[in-house]
Amino acid sequence: MNPDNDSIKPASAPCPLAAIASDDLFVHYTLDPARLGDRPMTERRLADLRGCFADGAAFEAALRRGNPLLYSVSPVEPASGDGQLHYGLGVLQPGKIGAEYFMTKGHLHAHRPAAEVYVGLAGEGAMLLEDEATGESRLVPLLAHSVVYVPGRTAHRTVNTGAAPLVYIGIYPSNAGHDYAPVAKNNFRHVVIERDGRPAPVPRAEIKNRRLAGSPV
Ligand SMILES: [Fe+2]
Repeated sequence: MNPDNDSIKPASAPCPLAAIASDDLFVHYTLDPARLGDRPMTERRLADLRGCFADGAAFEAALRRGNPLLYSVSPVEPASGDGQLHYGLGVLQPGKIGAEYFMTKGHLHAHRPAAEVYVGLAGEGAMLLEDEATGESRLVPLLAHSVVYVPGRTAHRTVNTGAAPLVYIGIYPSNAGHDYAPVAKNNFRHVVIERDGRPAPVPRAEIKNRRLAGSPV
């Protein structure tokens, strides 16, 4: 047994390096088109986000006109287990439903303590963060050349507030998992809309009340 190897490798853990394919160790990404190597992209279209947008009438009207692509994701999962990481490329298209920007469904991690790092690559957007326990919301810019830290136990949704595709990479523990059910049931407490030409987080209840009153949101 080589003592040098013993000093850098826990005896109880198999070395993952030999088990990882070369094309999982090195992946080239492009921005135009936004792709992660030749990995398949999973697409989410407008119909997949039923119930997410605050303005249900605007959603149904948009759906009658078509079912556009909202976003696509391409995960890379080189290894699983304690300490390993997964990551994925996300591409969120520009557009709005009513005044509300195109966005992802949003999720919590199934393993609630798992945090995540988002690296902005192109475009202009934001991340809506919501503490699961307290409901506190933060809207954090997600831009090219920027990094957003998403703490554990925090629901997160990506929003495209620009005119071009928003491209980013999310890096998360391999055991994080994705839990969509709480967001599908309760949604986020805030909605990100264009107001006076700028993105603004607005309480969902305010949008509902304005719609009931017949006022523009
Ligand atoms: Fe996540």
